[in-house]
Amino acid sequence: MYDFSNKFVLVTGAAQGIGLAIARRFVTEHASGVALIDYNQDSLNNALAELESINTDSVILPVSCDVSNYENLSLAINQIIDRFGRIDILINNAGITRDAIFHKMSLDQWNDVININLNGVFNCTRLVINGMRENNYGKIVNMSSKSAYGEVGQANYAATKAALVGFTKTLAKEGARKNITVNAVLPDFIDTPMMNAIPQENLQRRIEDAPMKRMGKPEEVAALVAFLSSDESSYVTGETINCNGGTRT
Ligand SMILES: NC(=O)c1ccc[n+]([C@@H]2O[C@H](COP(=O)([O-])OP(=O)(O)OC[C@H]3O[C@@H](n4cnc5c(N)ncnc54)[C@H](O)[C@@H]3O)[C@@H](O)[C@H]2O)c1
Repeated sequence: MYDFSNKFVLVTGAAQGIGLAIARRFVTEHASGVALIDYNQDSLNNALAELESINTDSVILPVSCDVSNYENLSLAINQIIDRFGRIDILINNAGITRDAIFHKMSLDQWNDVININLNGVFNCTRLVINGMRENNYGKIVNMSSKSAYGEVGQANYAATKAALVGFTKTLAKEGARKNITVNAVLPDFIDTPMMNAIPQENLQRRIEDAPMKRMGKPEEVAALVAFLSSDESSYVTGETINCNGGTRT
């Protein structure tokens, strides 16, 4: 358990899967405020109901917004800062897949993934970084992926997740003197709704091939994110950490 009291957190893509597990962890560990950004209003409502049922003193603030829309996101983040006063911890987790073998990939499949997985991270980070610099404190965790190393059918997705590695390492250098740590987590094969896009037969084959013979749990990623968001990781920055149960990179 870490102590997130007196910390204000923003988690994107927080309505389900890994993002919800991360939000749950912050709420359980008494963050003062946890803002949930997601563009799926129904899932966001369900997430809010679940998080509010936890016996906690955290203020939970759901905000329906698409991270790829800079103007709307700017309004959303201003709303969060008005309520919380500041954002100490940013978890850039929102992401999508639009898989296709590259020679059949459409321009829309390419652009949708770039706009959300990469430009969305620019947007969120750009909108909170100056506040962190002024406060001389910040923790940023970017959700990359094992696919950053290349995956058939994921040229778009892999390009964004690899870009986050360079982004993370650059921001870590730029933020170091301002006490802002920036790290990336590279999960693989985590049991979330994102996995529904994979045919059942392929999923079973991947489970058989996996060293641990199972998928990872969102909570196992959230545990790593909690460490990287806590002051226990104050001298860890610019790192890219796998969370994949030993699947090969
Ligand atoms: N599940 C895995 O095995 C796995 C592996 C590696 C990396 N990841 C990464 O982890 C992150 C979370 O994945 P997940 O498995 O929980 O996925 P998920 O699809 O279960 O959840 C993603 C959430 O992000 C939200 N979202 C998507 N685009 C958005 C946008 N433009 N604006 C706001 N919200 C948006 C969705 O509504 C959803 O609630 C993603 O960045 C994904 O690429 C997942």
